[in-house]
Amino acid sequence: MSGSVFITGASRGIGLCVTEKILTSYPTLKVIAASRSVHDSSSLASLSRQHSGRLILQPLDITDEESIKRAGEALGKEPCPMLFHGAALMHPSGKGENSVGRLCSEEMAAVMQTNVVGPALLTGALWPALRRAAKTAPSKVVAVGAGVGSIGTNAAGGWYSYRISKTARGMLSSPACLPARMPRNATVGRSSVLRVSAGNGKWQTVPAADVKALINDKGYTILDIRSPTEVSEVGYKFTWQTIPLAALTDEGPVRNPYFLATVKEAFPNTMSRMLVACDDGTFRSDMAADMLTEQGGYTNLSVIEGGIDGYLVHDPLTEKDKVKWQMEQQAGHDLSELVTGVDTRQASQKFY
Ligand SMILES: NC(=O)c1ccc[n+]([C@@H]2O[C@H](COP(=O)([O-])OP(=O)(O)OC[C@H]3O[C@@H](n4cnc5c(N)ncnc54)[C@H](OP(=O)(O)O)[C@@H]3O)[C@@H](O)[C@H]2O)c1
Repeated sequence: MSGSVFITGASRGIGLCVTEKILTSYPTLKVIAASRSVHDSSSLASLSRQHSGRLILQPLDITDEESIKRAGEALGKEPCPMLFHGAALMHPSGKGENSVGRLCSEEMAAVMQTNVVGPALLTGALWPALRRAAKTAPSKVVAVGAGVGSIGTNAAGGWYSYRISKTARGMLSSPACLPARMPRNATVGRSSVLRVSAGNGKWQTVPAADVKALINDKGYTILDIRSPTEVSEVGYKFTWQTIPLAALTDEGPVRNPYFLATVKEAFPNTMSRMLVACDDGTFRSDMAADMLTEQGGYTNLSVIEGGIDGYLVHDPLTEKDKVKWQMEQQAGHDLSELVTGVDTRQASQKFY
């Protein structure tokens, strides 16, 4: 991975943590750290000294269009593999409204401008750089949300401007708002923020573009951890080991209790070279990689950036693969083990 990651809200809090994490964990990346007070932040000054030449401080007022434009220009011709929207405003007064009667259009507009309008414009300003990066691996737009922005779990009310802005901001990290001409291998998702902060340090990530060579030249095998439904909908190659971490049911994800045991059966040697992948290489891949390295003791494990979807862009399924998995499908995939806890292996059936 190369290029410059762009982080807003980098002067303190979560944005500052992400800045530090990328500088320390991704030595090939540069970071453009943006906020109004980047030049006053002693933490950023210290990071700048430690990571000479890799940290660029970009003054940015996300409510000012000219400032956003200048920030976009700061990237020049560099690719931007990730835009991280950390900057946000709770309320100009510092305290969210505790009653709808206290809503004020000017204050609400200020919150919307900082949390939604500005980040949307900045995404537009960085779009060419995100597209440049997406030519080699999926680029990501991360819009940090908030639990209180969830419509489903909002039982308490209050903080109206902030909540509403955070719900709207969620759409910024949804593929639904992507322009149609985005390259096929570009993905967006809030989950990508976990790629930056998660991981136990015992596994790596590999660009989807490098996977074919790792399989052909270095003896790696893909461990496909997608759910049986995803596997049957998208397909797979017969050289992969398909062992689901969970089934995605109407009631939510059901964890596969035999995941680790089944992987151990398939890969008895803890030095086996494995490339773990869920659909997009985020949450589930991280979870599986942590479990396999910590509990399974595997030492040669990597996660495919962009997951199976990212990899298939570089090495698509052939007609032969498709015919094979469609025939396999006719035999029927048994989900009962994941859903009911019945171990179908006792009946000598395939896992799914
Ligand atoms: N902390 C939490 O418990 C929590 C919980 C849920 C969600 N979040 C979300 O996580 C993100 C980070 O939270 P945090 O607590 O780390 O934030 P924070 O400490 O309040 O920092 C906010 C950041 O946003 C920047 N910012 C504010 N207004 C800006 C503007 N007009 N233009 C450019 N930058 C601006 C600030 O920098 P300058 O002042 O230098 O501009 C600062 O770097 C936010 O999106 C927040 O909503 C936080």
